[in-house]
Amino acid sequence: MDLQQHMVKATAPGKVILFGEHAVVYGRPAIAAPLSELRATAIIQPGEHEGVLLSAPDLGFKKRLTDVGEDDALALAVHQVQNAIGIDRLPDMTITVTSEIPIASGLGSGASITAAIVRALAIYLGRGDLATDNWVSQLTFEVEKVYHGTPSGIDNTVVTYERPVYFVRQQPQNRIETFEIARPLPLLIADTGVSSHTKAVVSDVRRAWQADNTRFERLFDGCGAIARAAREAIACGDLLLTGQLMNENQELLIDMTVSSPELNHLVAIAMQAGAYGAKLSGAGRGGNMIALVDDELEAAVHKALLEAGARSVLSSRIKS
Ligand code: PMV
Repeated sequence: MDLQQHMVKATAPGKVILFGEHAVVYGRPAIAAPLSELRATAIIQPGEHEGVLLSAPDLGFKKRLTDVGEDDALALAVHQVQNAIGIDRLPDMTITVTSEIPIASGLGSGASITAAIVRALAIYLGRGDLATDNWVSQLTFEVEKVYHGTPSGIDNTVVTYERPVYFVRQQPQNRIETFEIARPLPLLIADTGVSSHTKAVVSDVRRAWQADNTRFERLFDGCGAIARAAREAIACGDLLLTGQLMNENQELLIDMTVSSPELNHLVAIAMQAGAYGAKLSGAGRGGNMIALVDDELEAAVHKALLEAGARSVLSSRIKS
């Protein structure tokens, strides 16, 4: 094993789902984009102590790999890489993880942290040759399965490739396409401050789909049609239509029962302040909403969202 004796650092971005969350789990297309300004970072250094030390200073977490449960997210990422590379004993090292992405808020924090660890560790272990985007994405997906139950694969894809993607979950291989963005999409991303756990929301939707299959299939079909139309609208630079499609998607997400009073409130405020469109992003029931804005109205919408109680508002330009 050609071990790196120096520090290795890898990062991965957060993400927003622009169209198609939940329906994407059931094979309908969805559109997601990276948030490059919010990142998770993994730093690996030669260990001063025996064994592997996992450290997440933001969370006050510092433990030996041998002392954490098998289901710990950081440990899972490490074991994925260890198994994939096929080494029995890891060298002594310290893995430090930091993240600017709020946890449990629909911005892909879990997938991003995992992707950063997977990439850094492969390089540290002298297998940077393996650490292609495809490989990092696949290993991140395996960890996501433990955390999300039935993830679609869109989160690991967008945080690893770090490009806006049009994504369809399908066998034998997911359809992952980049697409044209004729005009950058000015987005505001507002946090309700309510934490939401993707696994719980995704399994609630599954139960509802099992209970009323016809209705939910219709809702998912509607989301799929919206995502397809949105791809065209974005490719033409039509912000007005893109915004309208966001509003239509939000209505379907409300019907799916994954919105919340806080999300609906921020959506309404963004629309009153002049946004082209607004919707929840990610699993819902809390977390973040996104609003598509005109450059001239951005400051006004931003202010209105903060005044309406958003915990934070981030501004981002989604580009090709
Ligand atoms: O809440 P997040 O950021 O993990 O996004 C989940 C997106 C879902 O479509 C609800 C689930 C999935 O795996 O695609």
